[in-house]
Amino acid sequence: MDPPVYLAGVLALLFATVWFLFWRGHDSLAHIPSIGVSSGPLGKYIASVLSISRTREWLDEGARKYPSGVFKIPPDDVLSFQEAATEAIEADYTLSGWREAASRPDVHIGLIRGKLTRSLGSLFPAVYDEIRTSFEDVFELEPEKTGWTPLVARDALMRVICRTTNRVFVGLPLCRNEEFVDLNIRFTMDVAMSAFIIKLFPAFLKPYLTPMRRAYRDGERLMRDFVDERLRETASHKGIEWEDKPDDLLQWMIDLANERELQPDFLIKQILRLNFSAIHTTLISIMHAFYHIAASPEYQTPLREEVLHAISTYGWTKDAMDRLFKLDSILRESQRHFGLGALSMPRKALRASGFTFSNGTHVPTGTTLAVSARAIHFDEGVYECAEEFRGFRFAGESEGGARYVNASASYVPWGYGRHACPGRFWAANEMKAVLAYLLAHYEFRLEDQAVPKETWFGHNVVPHQTAKVLFRRRA
Ligand code: HEM
Repeated sequence: MDPPVYLAGVLALLFATVWFLFWRGHDSLAHIPSIGVSSGPLGKYIASVLSISRTREWLDEGARKYPSGVFKIPPDDVLSFQEAATEAIEADYTLSGWREAASRPDVHIGLIRGKLTRSLGSLFPAVYDEIRTSFEDVFELEPEKTGWTPLVARDALMRVICRTTNRVFVGLPLCRNEEFVDLNIRFTMDVAMSAFIIKLFPAFLKPYLTPMRRAYRDGERLMRDFVDERLRETASHKGIEWEDKPDDLLQWMIDLANERELQPDFLIKQILRLNFSAIHTTLISIMHAFYHIAASPEYQTPLREEVLHAISTYGWTKDAMDRLFKLDSILRESQRHFGLGALSMPRKALRASGFTFSNGTHVPTGTTLAVSARAIHFDEGVYECAEEFRGFRFAGESEGGARYVNASASYVPWGYGRHACPGRFWAANEMKAVLAYLLAHYEFRLEDQAVPKETWFGHNVVPHQTAKVLFRRRA
């Protein structure tokens, strides 16, 4: 991110303080009970700052005090990036051109929910190949090496996830380009940081801020020739299928593109936007599960047995992944415990009359609402001994059909309803393949056997970023 942006951020913080203290209007949500919010503009401002470390506590308190009602938590003006909420990531200024893509959800979201999901079986050999080569590259463990090698597992898995995801987004050779991988890993962080800064500015100044300029310039530099070549190749075949036609999301988008979407700048930005939705969400989810597996032989041994049995019967295929019921369960359980954070399903009330809940609670237009994932996931009425992490809690159910990918009113890490994550089928399959590969080829353990502690920022949670895991090739 450009350095002047940081300076601008400090100035904006001063501006925001004055705005909060003197200019913020009447509180139209005063009739809703509050947790962690004191009255008056200063109280709200203090609560916003405290929300960075206290949101999870407040949500738990809210669920205790108002188990079946509505309660509000402090506004997220200070540190918030809820990736599903456009408003939270200031997408108009960070995810350049997103409205164009969002205007054709049937194509852009449809390709993820439909074609990508339907192709999981046929794409599996490419996915497996990318997982295998990524691990060779990032682990650099010599085949004859028998000792334990300590690695920052998060960094290693980040590169594996980024490459594997991009193997189906853009294919070879781009998915292996180190700079391209770095850019996509950095992009999400840059969006989050830029959104944080942009949020501090008043609306009329926001269009003048361009914190993502460098990322898009790098995207253009790294992808332009590749995308141009794809477009030329596609045009030269004049709509007729050809042998060796690439089978990836970029090609599917080109095939369905309208005139505007055939412009290289649209496609380049769309690749970055897709990476934004896909990579860190997947990394966060897999890391929570991985640490639990690494910390406990009681999980690792039966999981390895399950994987070895499935691949000896079905080979490295999607069919084998579909039979990993214990692995499915531990992913589902770790997402129940942590997910992407304590809130889910952000929704903004847009009707001029606001929105009235069935219990009569009214919120005015412009209010952002969210579901407390914690209240749902730790409800004893739904989950027995809900506070306990039971990795194989869902393993029995899985065989009968309840799966990691199932979104429901009592399981919201993927959201729920019309906007439930369209990439979850892909993500679940990818995470299972990566973990299965690790279990089949490596032994791994944490030095002190304890699950590394996660970190909460406001309502967002991230797994430990620097914990080292010891790896050893299996004989
Ligand atoms: C474990 C990984 C992932 C998690 C936990 C996750 C979670 C979510 C959540 C919570 C939502 C919002 C749903 C709602 O508010 O109702 C969402 C939306 C979305 N996700 Fe994911 N996601 C993951 C992976 C992916 C991947 C891999 C892709 C792309 C291939 C993707 C693409 C999207 C898109 C495009 C939306 C917006 C859907 C819409 O506007 O209707 N996600 N995701």
